[in-house]
Amino acid sequence: MKMTGNTILITGGTSGIGLGLALRLHEAGNKVVVAGRRKELLDEITAEHPGIDGLVLDVADPDSIARARETVAASHPGLNVLVNNAGIMLRENLLDPAELKVAEDHVTVNLLGTIRMTYAFLPLLAGKDDAVVMNVTSALAFVPYPSTPTYSATKAALHSFSESLRIQLAGADAGVQVIEVAPPGVRTTLLDQQDNDHAMPLDDFLTETLDLLREKPDAKELVVEGARFIRDAQATGSYDNVLAMIASS
Ligand SMILES: NC(=O)c1ccc[n+]([C@@H]2O[C@H](COP(=O)([O-])OP(=O)(O)OC[C@H]3O[C@@H](n4cnc5c(N)ncnc54)[C@H](OP(=O)(O)O)[C@@H]3O)[C@@H](O)[C@H]2O)c1
Repeated sequence: MKMTGNTILITGGTSGIGLGLALRLHEAGNKVVVAGRRKELLDEITAEHPGIDGLVLDVADPDSIARARETVAASHPGLNVLVNNAGIMLRENLLDPAELKVAEDHVTVNLLGTIRMTYAFLPLLAGKDDAVVMNVTSALAFVPYPSTPTYSATKAALHSFSESLRIQLAGADAGVQVIEVAPPGVRTTLLDQQDNDHAMPLDDFLTETLDLLREKPDAKELVVEGARFIRDAQATGSYDNVLAMIASS
């Protein structure tokens, strides 16, 4: 992925990692469209940062995705990068039948939302120069956090989906790069981690991730140093220990 001159749509751009990426990429000389459900935040962001555009989007709603696609096709025909970042993360007790809804919501937003966005927007990206789909998964795609079982499962599924997407696009010569970003715990409001000393400060995460991309523009995965031991747990034979560590955290 080139670092400047792109037209980028970022889902979940109203806060946390998505907003952070949006601001950094905007500063770096890209046209950025931030998308999310909270219209008041979109209005604030676009007022504070002239040049960034806002788009109301609920990735859990196929009609909202279809509307967003039509809007972007008309307003930003040069779109060449889709960042699938929108996500939710809630604790879930598998022994409480009432929490099935929590599981279903994770699948709808994190997994189905990303899949639907990919189907909707790939026709706009395929064949464009420097086209990219960037999927924000998690280090928990590689070793689950048992307190958030369906969250972790959606991220593992998104890792798998990203691998297949990359191969299909290469096979079709579509010229679309697929990049997976697998963050460790980062200080955002996700799971109330904003003041969690064990989570990575958002600015540090953004700097390290974008440095990795700058160093390796053809990267398949962007994994900061603090997430490597989880990403590589299976390969290094430390999976059981890492799972036990995450389970007790
Ligand atoms: N923070 C971490 O520790 C961490 C670690 C690994 C991976 N991640 C991943 O990073 C991504 C961003 O998370 P974050 O930490 O930045 O959390 P965040 O600050 O809570 O941001 C989540 C974003 O997702 C959007 N969103 C949620 N449901 C949506 C829906 N139905 N439709 C459209 N947008 C929706 C929210 O916008 P609206 O509410 O305005 O819709 C918000 O902008 C997520 O995929 C998360 O799983 C985070």
